[in-house]
This record gives sequence, structure tokens and C-alpha cells, in this order.
Amino acid sequence: MKIYVPMDSAAKALGADEVAAKLAQEIAARGIEAEIVRNGTRGMIWLEPLVEIEKDGERLAYGPISEGDVAALLDGRIETLGKVEDIPFFARQTRLTFARCGLTDPLSLRDYETHGGLEGLKRATGMSQDAIIDEVKLSGLRGRGGAGFPTGIKWDTVRLAHAPQKYIVCNADEGDSGTFADRMIMEGDPFTLIEGMAIAGLGCGATKGYVYTRSEYPDAVAVMRRAIEIARGAGVLGANVLGSGKTFDMEVRVGAGAYVCGEETSLLNSLEGKRGTVRAKPPLPALEGFLGRPTVVNNVISLATVPVIFAKGAAHYANFGLGRSKGTMPIQIAGNVKQGGLFETAFGMPLGTLVNEIAGGTATGRPIKAVQVGGPLGAYLHPDQFDTPFGYEEFDGQKALIGHAGIVVFDDSADMLSMARFAMEFCAVESCGKCTPCRIGAVRGVETLDRIAEGDVNAIPLLTDLCEVMVDGSLCALGGFTPYPVMSALRHFPEDFAPKSARKEAAE
Ligand SMILES: Cc1cc2nc3c(=O)[nH]c(=O)nc-3n(C[C@H](O)[C@H](O)[C@H](O)COP(=O)(O)O)c2cc1C
Ligand code: SF4
Repeated sequence: MKIYVPMDSAAKALGADEVAAKLAQEIAARGIEAEIVRNGTRGMIWLEPLVEIEKDGERLAYGPISEGDVAALLDGRIETLGKVEDIPFFARQTRLTFARCGLTDPLSLRDYETHGGLEGLKRATGMSQDAIIDEVKLSGLRGRGGAGFPTGIKWDTVRLAHAPQKYIVCNADEGDSGTFADRMIMEGDPFTLIEGMAIAGLGCGATKGYVYTRSEYPDAVAVMRRAIEIARGAGVLGANVLGSGKTFDMEVRVGAGAYVCGEETSLLNSLEGKRGTVRAKPPLPALEGFLGRPTVVNNVISLATVPVIFAKGAAHYANFGLGRSKGTMPIQIAGNVKQGGLFETAFGMPLGTLVNEIAGGTATGRPIKAVQVGGPLGAYLHPDQFDTPFGYEEFDGQKALIGHAGIVVFDDSADMLSMARFAMEFCAVESCGKCTPCRIGAVRGVETLDRIAEGDVNAIPLLTDLCEVMVDGSLCALGGFTPYPVMSALRHFPEDFAPKSARKEAAE
């Protein structure tokens, strides 16, 4: 018998370690022959700690399980949820990037290979750099960190650059509110990120990689470091990648924590040991990046998706999706919802289906008022926009963005003027200070929103003007996109920007 208890941070925060310890104790006391496997999470956070028991070839789920439930669980007195694959939230997914997450022991390379791991890298070792890049271009993969830039084109720029050293940098800063896909895959299936980075290295002619992550992710850091050691020991990394004669090695670096350090040039400064301020572009990091050398900077999910593209073929991947949004997206559902977690699906599912059916509506049971998609720089969408299919262009058409695909749901008790103020305040606090529209603009934005809150309606056109200046004049998307949440709140919820006296009357 095998008993799976996730070692993912979200599951641990909900008591998974205590459940695992109690299970070990009970198993020993009862003399049961059972192995406890610490797997990644299956992504259904409202069911964590989700314990799975595998017996006679059948793997059944139970959750949420507390330490106090362990005896009853072993007695068979707890009702099963059935197979994870049959739970509707899971059954409706298309798991390509997250296919193994939660299924395997994250630190078992054997488990990884048994479930299709390393097939992509094996294939890539026999391909030319051109062919590797063409495969990525053909897959239609676009950056999952926010900007949606075609990954193959970025890799090609690095491949074509002449330099004695090139780098692959994985952006694992994951600063967006309501997002956790990067952490989840690093903790739940770290070899897939390693494999993706190795393929990127082979394709671009880069021999060294870095995973830049945040100090708030100690578990992900530990798992990644251990997985890199294991991969190196097995010849997946090092001077002779899978016996190909090609070199690729990597390490993890931890940042001190600043939202702007997720911006690629700021990240590179931080990686070089400098203050995390944004660099002006050009030069592009692809030409002059880490230590002035050609550098691919890609998000965790972009890189972790590369192995399945090579294992199953670019056409297979590109078959999923909608328009220019090819493949799948691991959507992270958070905020005021009944069922929060990670939901990987082909692009194209309407936002309303995601929040009403998949997330099951609000946890409070009150009507949904707004959904913020794409982190703190993402727009607030109104229920009138729920028909919008989840896709880069489709969201752009709504003056919104999908970003890193974090969805945060708010019920009708949310005050959108306060949310707009929070967006400006966040920008003011996190601004790197390099350009005036953001450094000064965000502070003036907070003041202007306070004037609106005091009933000064003349401040509304001022806010609109200020947002225009921030969009047009900011050096990076922190200042440039903060107007998205602010203006969407104003556009869709004008009643929340009315003078206090009018709001009070309306409420009475
Ligand atoms: C303020 C700011 C914060 C960002 N934070 C992240 C982040 O945490 N993770 C990430 O992958 N990209 C982040 N980005 C986007 C990166 O600059 C860059 O576009 C991305 O790492 C490129 O990888 P991709 O093409 O795979 O998406 C941020 C951008 C800005 C402007
Ligand atoms: S927009 Fe803000 S964070 Fe970006 S460069 Fe300007 S000051 Fe720095």
C-alpha cells in the first residue's frame, strides 16, 4: 500500500506535515505495510491536505484530511472522493504542463521517467539548434510570465547572437497576486523545469542557467536545489547532457523580495548582485542580458512546458487553444471562491465558466462583483464581460490582460474605489524609482483617488489624465499597466467613484 501526502507548501500550510507524521506513527503502531510518498499537490487547494491511498492498483482520494482524521482514515471510516481524475474540477482539465504534478514523487527521477519525463530532452539532443528553435516556434508557445512574447523568436535572437557565453535565466519571482503555478511546479515536478531549461540551453547554445526565485519560496528553493543535484548526478545536467557531448548546468539564486525584481531587466540586475532597478531597452536581454551576455529570460511555466512540446511534438501542443493563444494555460483561481486552485485548460474557456462553474462562485455565497485577472497590473472585469474567452488577444480586446493567469474573485462587498487606490499605492510602494511617471505619478494617483473619495468629482478627469501619462511615459509595465486596474474600476464601477453622500443615499 502507498499513501500519498503532498509536500507542497499550500498543503503544508493546511497541515499536511502533521498528517504525514501521524500516518507514520499509526502505520508503525498497527504494523501496516505501507509506504508514505510525499507528492506534489493535485492543485485542488480546498481539498488539501488531499491524501491518496493506492491499494491493489487503485488510487483513491480523501480530503481534506486533518491529523485527527488519520485513525478513521486507516480504519476505512472516511468516505473517499473517488479517483482524483474523476473529480469534476480535475476531470475538466487538459493537463500538459502539469501532467505529472501531484501524481509522482517530485524528487524521484525514476518516477519522472516512468511518466514520460526526459523524452523531450532525449529528442532534443539529436536535433540541430535550428530544428529545436523551429519546434518551439511551431508550437506557438508564448511567454507565460505576462507579456505573451513568442518564446521561439526570443530563443532565436539568443541563438543568432555571437558571444563566448550565453545564459538561460528562469524567472521564478512570481510576484503577481493570486498566482502560484511557478511554485507549484517547482515543488511538484521540478525535473520538468530542469528539462525545459536544458532544452533551451541546447537550442540557444547556452551552457549555464539560473533559476531566480523569491526568498518567500523556501520549499521550492530546497526542492529545486535537490532536484538539480539529482539531475547532475544522473548526467541530465553537466558536461555531457544525456551523453550528447553538450554542456548545460544550472543553479538556483534567491532574491531579497521586490515585485519589480520580476521584471526581466530588474531581475538581471538583482542576479548580478546590483539593486533591482529596471534597465532601459534596447539593448534587449536576448542580446545583452546577464553580465552583458545574450540571455533568454523566460517564466517557469514557459520553460516547464517545453518538455511536453518536444515529447509529443509541436503540432500536438499547437492543436489546443484558440487563435494565436496556442496550447494550454495553468490558470490559478484565488480570492473569494468556493474552489480555489490550479486549473490547466486549453485557451478559450470563457471567464464566466471559470469563475461560476469551475471555481463554483464565491465562498461567501454573495454575487460576484469583479474579477481581477493578471495580477496587480491586471484589469478588473465586470460580470458583463464573462463571455470573454481566456486568450491573449481576447483579453486585450477588453482592455484587460491574462498576465500569468491569476484570477482573483471579489463579491459585491468589494469597494472598487478602494481597489483602485490599492493599485496606485502598490505601484508607489513597489516602484523602482527609475522613471518619473511611475515614481511620482503613483503617489499623485493615491492622492487623487483620496480626493475622489472625499467627493471631489473634478479629480476624476485628473485621474484619467494621470493614467494616460503613466501608460505612455513609463519605462516598464509597473507604471505603464497600473492604470489598467485603476481605469477598469472607474469604467465598470462608476457608482463606487460617486461622492460619499450620493453613495450613502443610493444605499438607503
Ligand atoms: C513589474 C513587473 C513584474 C514582473 N514579474 C514577473 C514575474 O514575477 N514572473 C515572470 O515570469 N515575469 C514577470 N514579469 C515579466 C518579465 O519582465 C518578462 O516579460 C518575462 O519573464 C519573460 O518571460 P516569458 O516570455 O516566458 O513570459 C514582470 C514584468 C513587470 C513589468
Ligand atoms: S515604471 Fe516604475 S518600476 Fe518601471 S522603470 Fe519606471 S519607476 Fe521603475
